[in-house]
Amino acid sequence: DQHSWQAPGPNDSRGPCPGLNTLANHGFLPRDGRNISISTILKAGYEGYHIEAEILTLAAKVGLLTSDQPTTFALNDLKAHGVIEHDASLSRQDVALGDNVRFNETIFSTLANSNPGSDVYNITSAGQVQHARLADSLKNNPNVTNTDTTLFIRSAESAFYLSVMGDPVQGVAPKNFVQIFFREERLPIEEGWKRSSVPINIATVSPMLDLITAASAPWEPTGNNCPGILT
Ligand code: HEM
Ligand code: MG
Repeated sequence: DQHSWQAPGPNDSRGPCPGLNTLANHGFLPRDGRNISISTILKAGYEGYHIEAEILTLAAKVGLLTSDQPTTFALNDLKAHGVIEHDASLSRQDVALGDNVRFNETIFSTLANSNPGSDVYNITSAGQVQHARLADSLKNNPNVTNTDTTLFIRSAESAFYLSVMGDPVQGVAPKNFVQIFFREERLPIEEGWKRSSVPINIATVSPMLDLITAASAPWEPTGNNCPGILT
């Protein structure tokens, strides 16, 4: 049907965001991943994940800065380093070390193997994963960027995978759902996932983001903590 999962073809645009790639793979965004406007993003986020516009608008607008088109972007444009894309990602390499766009199982293994002995990921494990991923970048990437802004974006992304794949109030998500989301960029509907009945918005994401940031401690900026456009 209209929103069944289809793998992208060779000419379809995909980027560093598993959330948007998944929406394109299910036809909530254009399956070719191109000519995406702000309103297209807001509608797709609501229909696919029950994310309210208030929490997507800023990211969508900043995403436009990566495009040479006046009002639209392609998913691959979002790889522009230092706009939204950052180092110490959960599932992609740092741009200075390799491919910052495509899913990488070695990078993802830190998240995949987190919270051992449990069937779920949660706020505590998400914070620990962020700490471990940053430690890896600090060790291996002499070019690493690590600022207040990148920390904020990283914690927002962690809150997003817990929220869209799990309970957006508790911040608890089944491991198999999160793994399918990252590895296959697919909604795990056959496995029992359902779109959240609770809207995902500032009231749910903001406190979760703060708790994840706290759980990723200790943290300090690296080098010049240059304020970004988001702060
Ligand atoms: C990264 C989820 C919307 C742009 C990520 C990551 C997650 C995520 C979990 C982290 C990937 C990783 O660390 O490997 C979502 C969800 C969304 C959404 C569930 C809901 C619709 C957006 C929007 C934009 C955006 C609206 C901008 C137009 C990005 C970019 C990255 C990213 C550029 C790469 C950051 C990096 O890891 O370097 N997203 N996102 N996302 N997202 Fe999204
Ligand atoms: Mg990255």
